[in-house]
Amino acid sequence: MRPAAPATPETFVDVYARALEKHLFPTGVDAARIGSVARGVKSLWARFNTKRSALDREYMAESLDLEAYLASFCLPNVERVRAVLQRFATPEKIVAESPRTSPAQRPGVVRILDFGSGPLSASAGALAALDASGLLPAHVEIVAVELSSRCVEVGATLLRTALPTSTELIVKRASTLDAVPQDTYDFVLAANVFNEVPVASRGRFLARLAQLCAPGGRLLLLEPGQDTHSRALALLRDRFLESGTAAGFALVAPCLHRKACPLGPERDRKDWCWFRHNWRRPAFLVTLDAKSGLEHDELAYSFVLFQKHEKDASVKEILVSPAAARVVSDPIPMPSTPEGLQKLRGHLARNAATHLPPAKASSVLADTATKKMLLCTSEGRLEGLYSPKQAERKSRGSVVDLDKFQLRAKEREAHRIVRDDDDDPEVEVVAAPKLKMGFAKTKTKKTKSGAKRSPRGPS
Ligand SMILES: C[S@@+](CC[C@H](N)C(=O)[O-])C[C@H]1O[C@@H](n2cnc3c(N)ncnc32)[C@H](O)[C@@H]1O
Repeated sequence: MRPAAPATPETFVDVYARALEKHLFPTGVDAARIGSVARGVKSLWARFNTKRSALDREYMAESLDLEAYLASFCLPNVERVRAVLQRFATPEKIVAESPRTSPAQRPGVVRILDFGSGPLSASAGALAALDASGLLPAHVEIVAVELSSRCVEVGATLLRTALPTSTELIVKRASTLDAVPQDTYDFVLAANVFNEVPVASRGRFLARLAQLCAPGGRLLLLEPGQDTHSRALALLRDRFLESGTAAGFALVAPCLHRKACPLGPERDRKDWCWFRHNWRRPAFLVTLDAKSGLEHDELAYSFVLFQKHEKDASVKEILVSPAAARVVSDPIPMPSTPEGLQKLRGHLARNAATHLPPAKASSVLADTATKKMLLCTSEGRLEGLYSPKQAERKSRGSVVDLDKFQLRAKEREAHRIVRDDDDDPEVEVVAAPKLKMGFAKTKTKKTKSGAKRSPRGPS
């Protein structure tokens, strides 16, 4: 007889989710308890999104808000951070020539600074990413910068449950960044907190976080995926890159350049830079989402990930190929009416292809099978790739090599790459980040399913 196939081993996030469920629903996920938690979730969501002035500075100290946060927001944020670090922290443009290519490869200890830690969700995400790569160290030290102490205590208990007994965990709390012990940290995480920090203080706080990052360490800024937060993050990134401090850092992702963000608030565009992650929610969250009206099956976020150069500068930033570009949209269908197609042909003919010799205006592209992908290039420019096929294959966040579209005449006919300095008016918006962890102040409208979504999304 063939031996039974081994069951899929539980991940760090599976174990963490079970500990969270037990904490929230010690006697089981019954309808009455789900109903009361869902009311708290809706109330907190409303203060995050539409009534920001009603959000107490120390909301995490309120037991009902902490419960709501743990139930509906915490685990999706663990997943967001895990997914970002797993997908992007393997640097695409950095080659570490030092023996230590990632902070986690230093044996023994990993030190995390978690700014605006709440219940340590970002730390849990970083540990989940390390665990998934088999790099969980023997000692984890976390300094949580957090206004409220209770959420850090609960978060530490959840982490202790999810970590193997062989991993020692030390968690300390500092109530301000200035109170953080002068040390350096392998992961400096700031997840969903900058939108709660007054604009005037953001640059100073980021400079302090950068200072506390260890050589070779990662600095992750993650914010919700909605326009307001993505644009605010882009501005913070731009200002940081203008500062002297940024010279000590490689920009790992998503940007393949260090120029001003072409989707930032200072550009008058209708789209913005965000990414998504799909995952399988635990059953309690599915039940809770159905009751609260929030959806967490698809997680939107915006982020910037830096890596601090090693002291001896042995981590070198490798110049990205000028032909590399990040996909920053979903495939966008082209207009299907004859007038729309005519306009599109005009648009393609007017805009010079940057990597291609000008193709004929009668290109096969301007037909209904054509889709557009918005690309952010290694030169910090937005370009539109118009293609019947390629747009279906490359998802938001992946990197394409524009050189491959220069190969043959047939290719030139089949794909058009044009400067995208302006939004082309013909293009329809097809997707938007949902307001799940959304702190956006924008108005929402109900979808057919009744779930709350962002009113409109990026092209
Ligand atoms: C939305 S929660 C994010 C929690 C966690 N990082 C996550 O992504 O799930 C924001 C947290 O930042 C904390 N916070 C806001 N401003 C802060 C500040 N100036 N210093 C320390 N913590 C702050 C809040 O108390 C809250 O717990």
